Amino acid sequence: MDKIVIRGGERLIGDVGVSGSKNSTLPIFVSCLLNEGENVFSNVPDLRDVQTIIKVLRNLGVGVSQEEGVYRINATEVSSDEAPYDLVKTMRASILVLGPLVARRKKATVSLPGGCAIGARPINLHLAGLEVMGAKIDLRHGYIEAKSDGLKGATISFDTVTVTGTENLMMAAALAKGRTVLQNAAMEPEVVDLANVLNKMGAKVTGAGTNVIEIEGVKSLHAVEHRIIPDRIEAGTLMVAAGLTRGNIKILQCPFSEMEMVVHKLRESGMEIESEGDGIRTVGTKRIRSVDIKTQPYPGFPTDMQAQFMVLMSLARGLSVISETIFENRFIHVSELRRMGADIRIQGDSAIIQGVESLGGAPVMATDLRASASLVLAGLAADGVTEVSRVYHLDRGYEALDKKLAKLGANIERVKEGD
Ligand code: EPU
Repeated sequence: MDKIVIRGGERLIGDVGVSGSKNSTLPIFVSCLLNEGENVFSNVPDLRDVQTIIKVLRNLGVGVSQEEGVYRINATEVSSDEAPYDLVKTMRASILVLGPLVARRKKATVSLPGGCAIGARPINLHLAGLEVMGAKIDLRHGYIEAKSDGLKGATISFDTVTVTGTENLMMAAALAKGRTVLQNAAMEPEVVDLANVLNKMGAKVTGAGTNVIEIEGVKSLHAVEHRIIPDRIEAGTLMVAAGLTRGNIKILQCPFSEMEMVVHKLRESGMEIESEGDGIRTVGTKRIRSVDIKTQPYPGFPTDMQAQFMVLMSLARGLSVISETIFENRFIHVSELRRMGADIRIQGDSAIIQGVESLGGAPVMATDLRASASLVLAGLAADGVTEVSRVYHLDRGYEALDKKLAKLGANIERVKEGD
């Protein structure tokens, strides 16, 4: 197992590129289950979660090959309807195969994802939506067994905004009979990327990017070529890295227009963030100002940026309040940040942060992707050495973050645990 060792205090300077979006790639790869022929995708990030979804697809009989970052996915011969526990337990997003399998194969057996480090994360809304579309769903021995004689379009109103729930039902509706209306749908850019792919395949999806999505079902879909959008959470993480090190970096392939709330809050904290030629110039300040945030579905402040922003606030002048409204347990990083000297109290769904003068390097670890990223960020700003272990969490969702930071001048290296 690897760990990341950081000697803090270096200013980050230079150009850095953003990789393709994890949370776009996962549903888009799964959407290939809906068609026959060879789909071709570029700008796919090299991540553990991408490898996991490929395992899930291969287990269903789908052909997947990769050459120089270009992935070819062919689901002409789907030979199984099952996503087993061993795979689903390593990545909850595997649940995305449920809708497409029921739509194309009329049945699916998918392990029920359990809770995870950041919350209980039920999937009741995915299941209720499929039932309204005519699927029969049974829960047996930890598995969801779904069957249908052909899904039918329906109006589905989500009680809570759910990203993968919206994506699952959008994919199922693409091959259902008639019109489906998804109300209170997720508006995330990744949902829009998936809708664009489905439309390229011949689906009739309108309204993606708003909270009402309409899908007119079609009989069949065809294979496509597509370039995955850049990862807005990686871009935001790099911005915070610049903010924490009084850095001056230019972020290339930055999905700036999808980051309004994050950019607004970082600017409020004193950072300069401006468009410059082919990138986004991002400059940190000596005096970080305290700023309150509340996580919300898009276009609100993303929960996936909450832990990283908290590190910045740990070094701000004054008091800030961060409210987490999406996941009930997404403060796992707090106890580790405290060990590095941060002054943070938790009160209900809020973290109250009193900025401190400096953080001190320490051995730390986290059990969630974004929490791990926040510890790497804290290490960049801390005095002394920080060792972040259980780096496999980071590798689930950041492509070569350590290498990118090293290229910008960070003193960071990946070593084998025990070395
Ligand atoms: N929820 C329900 N019932 C459902 C579905 C969701 O109550 O059937 C609740 C959840 O418990 C949560 C809220 O609704 O409180 C929102 O959850 P959502 O379903 O939107 O989360 P998700 O689709 O499982 C995706 C991302 C997450 C990101 C969230 C929120 C993917 C593969 N994952 O998860 O990404 O945090 O949306 O934006 O798209 C990450 O990348 O680190 C990550 C966790």
